[in-house]
Amino acid sequence: MHKPVTIVILAAGQGTRMKSRQAKVLHKAGGKTLLQHVIDTALELAPPERIFAVVGHQAQKVRQSAEASGIGFIEQTEQKGTGHAVMMGRDAMAHLDGYLMVLYGDSPLLKVETLRRLIAQETGGTAAGVLMSAVMEDPFGYGRVIRSNAGDVVDIVEQKAGTPEQLAIREANMGIYCFRADLFWKHVSEIQPNSASNEYYLTDLPALLTRAGHRVEAMQIDDAAEALGINDRAQLAQVDAIFRDRKRQAVMAAGVTLIKPETITIDAGVEIGMDTIVEPFAQLLGTTKVGENCRIGSCSIVQDSVLHDEVEIGAFTVVTTSVLERGASAGPYARLRMQNHVEAGAHIGNFVELKKTRMGAGAKAGHLAYLGDAEIGSKSNIGAGTITCNYDGYKKHATRIGEGAFVGSNSTLVAPLEIGAGSYLAAGSVITNAVPEDALAIGRGRQENKPDWAKKRRRLAKTVEALKSGD
Ligand code: UD1
Ligand code: CA
Repeated sequence: MHKPVTIVILAAGQGTRMKSRQAKVLHKAGGKTLLQHVIDTALELAPPERIFAVVGHQAQKVRQSAEASGIGFIEQTEQKGTGHAVMMGRDAMAHLDGYLMVLYGDSPLLKVETLRRLIAQETGGTAAGVLMSAVMEDPFGYGRVIRSNAGDVVDIVEQKAGTPEQLAIREANMGIYCFRADLFWKHVSEIQPNSASNEYYLTDLPALLTRAGHRVEAMQIDDAAEALGINDRAQLAQVDAIFRDRKRQAVMAAGVTLIKPETITIDAGVEIGMDTIVEPFAQLLGTTKVGENCRIGSCSIVQDSVLHDEVEIGAFTVVTTSVLERGASAGPYARLRMQNHVEAGAHIGNFVELKKTRMGAGAKAGHLAYLGDAEIGSKSNIGAGTITCNYDGYKKHATRIGEGAFVGSNSTLVAPLEIGAGSYLAAGSVITNAVPEDALAIGRGRQENKPDWAKKRRRLAKTVEALKSGD
């Protein structure tokens, strides 16, 4: 075992090139903030007490977004460059022995294996530091790695400062380093502000270490895409696409069928069980968990919800913060707006909206209904056009429907309301009072038939016509 590694994540920059009011590291790719991606990767390599994020721009918000991870935070009140950012952590980190790994908060694609290799090269050798590099087709915007004849890294030259010969170098600095902690803290304060930008560049450190008689190595990775730094929205989209693809590959490898996978969006935190089928253009978002043998219909959106086994979500259905138990179904064209609980085998049909509603096991609302703040007993049937009037303009009220009730089509249920088990509501009723168990409630004007009314009307019309034409 090598000595421990401390990890510092630089996340204080504003991200000017994003053209955003929001700090760059709070933008999301693959359904997670850029910073959270980097933190999650770091947590696989070190305990939270050994991980620090340097925050500055929108420090409060950035810190809040990542507080739950238990890592430490360092404030960089003025963003004076990547070298300056790490220097802010001297008090928090310089006494920690072993190695110091620096990661940039805008490079979320990094894989743990790759960072392990970087650490292994540093801890297994004699170099003062190892940086990650890649030979890129177009390294524009990246620092270029300048090597000695022996192959050691003697300097990094930034895009803005490079001579044409230096900029022709295609080996780029990925912004990921592992240093010997003692040498790092000894020499980092020697970094001078860059003459052009007045910023302290961490990338000056290899030259300083070399001058002090130490060696810095590079570890080349084959696929520069892994270290893509996000500076603008186009790169954000590019990285998002890579995360989406990684996630799709992972769920397919775990036994999920994706039909036209390239059209499907699955957030990083989503779990899907075996033999579930996801149709084109579906989106599974947030903390959603899907069981086995489910079907997620085309163009449906399921967010922060739990679907047990054998649940069917029809096409164009939106489900948010809801639970659907085994064998339940919803849609096509249904909306489970928030905090609904659909018990086993219950069915929510087309153009039905649910809000804070519990559908008992086997209950059905087949078409065109609004059920809000309602508890619906098992095996009840809710007819087409049923509306819970749950809002009186001031407050929300509950509707409680007992087991096995039959709510006729086009019923208007004025809450607060209790409807007894096994009762019947006549179609077209406006129900304002409690209905006892097993009763029939009719809440509408009675029908009246007027015999021959139509015939007489037609006869009258004919007579009028005849008088007019003078026959
Ligand atoms: C940096 C490297 C460049 C490398 C590239 C890889 C430097 C000087 N250059 O350039 O060699 O090829 O990354 O992606 O390091 N940050 C702070 N405080 C600051 C400035 C920046 O915390 O004062 C943070 C930013 O929030 C960001 C990270 O450091 O997460 C990198 O900064 P950025 O401005 O994106 O550096 P690049 O120009 O991309
Ligand atoms: Ca960057």
